[in-house]
Amino acid sequence: MTILVKDLVKIYTLGALEVQALRGLNLTIEKGEMVSLIGPSGSGKTTLLNIIGGLDRASAGSVRVFDVELTKLNAQQLVKYRRDTVGHVFQTMNLIPTLTAAENIELPMVALGMPKESRRERVKELVDVVGLTPRREHKPGELSGGEQQRVALAAALANDPPVVLADEPTGELDTANARIVVDYLTRVNREMGKTILMVTHDPAVSRAADRILRIQDGQIVADVAPAGEEVGGHVSYADLLKSRISEIDSQLIGLDARFRNGEMTGDDFAQQQTRLKGTRDVLVEELHRLGVVH
Ligand SMILES: Nc1ncnc2c1ncn2[C@@H]1O[C@H](COP(=O)(O)OP(=O)(O)O)[C@@H](O)[C@H]1O
Ligand SMILES: [Mg+2]
Repeated sequence: MTILVKDLVKIYTLGALEVQALRGLNLTIEKGEMVSLIGPSGSGKTTLLNIIGGLDRASAGSVRVFDVELTKLNAQQLVKYRRDTVGHVFQTMNLIPTLTAAENIELPMVALGMPKESRRERVKELVDVVGLTPRREHKPGELSGGEQQRVALAAALANDPPVVLADEPTGELDTANARIVVDYLTRVNREMGKTILMVTHDPAVSRAADRILRIQDGQIVADVAPAGEEVGGHVSYADLLKSRISEIDSQLIGLDARFRNGEMTGDDFAQQQTRLKGTRDVLVEELHRLGVVH
């Protein structure tokens, strides 16, 4: 077992206001698994990843990663945990714009105090792992979104962490680039044996995983295999797709209302509507692929 989360609670305090982002969440991830986490905006996905990644602290409950109980670590131990155990890939690629792809990948190794020769060797390997050898001397601004995200993935792997956490790694990419990034993530899982937990909205992306967890209001409400059979809960993959489609339908209605009330410009409206409808089309297509008519 790699990750074991029990009764996890996270409460954010904003002045007098308390937001309960995680409400007694439980999950288990085995070594070498690739798991997708899906769920509506605000359901606690990022909060969960940040706590497992040692970037944020639990309010209550237990989080074990390998043999380490994260809730018991002091600040210094947490820094070491972050360096050694997890690689984190974010939706907005946090690359340094003035450094080349290779230098961005090398940076975490510098922080680790790795000797120059070993760093060079490792950068060479990692640039190759994400298929960017011909682009290694380019700066982020000279790379496509998908290529930048592959640099971010390589940088997350720099210190050879056993666990990779990816928070909407394809969120800002078009379908073709999203697919390429997911292919690389899948290879990192299959070929390098990394345990992967990734947040995604995209069914094509979540399908690449061994298992899909759905989070809602700070709890895991379903645990299914992409093929459709049930692992835990009582919800199938098709049900997950259907509930996501319903969510998008209500978002589209909300969007209409905001536009008609003059709360947004025509351009913003058109752009958001196109994006939502595009996602809806993909979800419906995925349902059809499963033989479900919606
Ligand atoms: N730093 C924070 N301070 C206060 N509230 C937060 C903070 N981060 C997240 N939240 C709240 O916690 C809930 C879960 O947020 P988040 O984990 O970002 O959801 P998701 O990633 O699923 O969209 C939301 O209600 C959000 O507003
Ligand atoms: Mg999030």
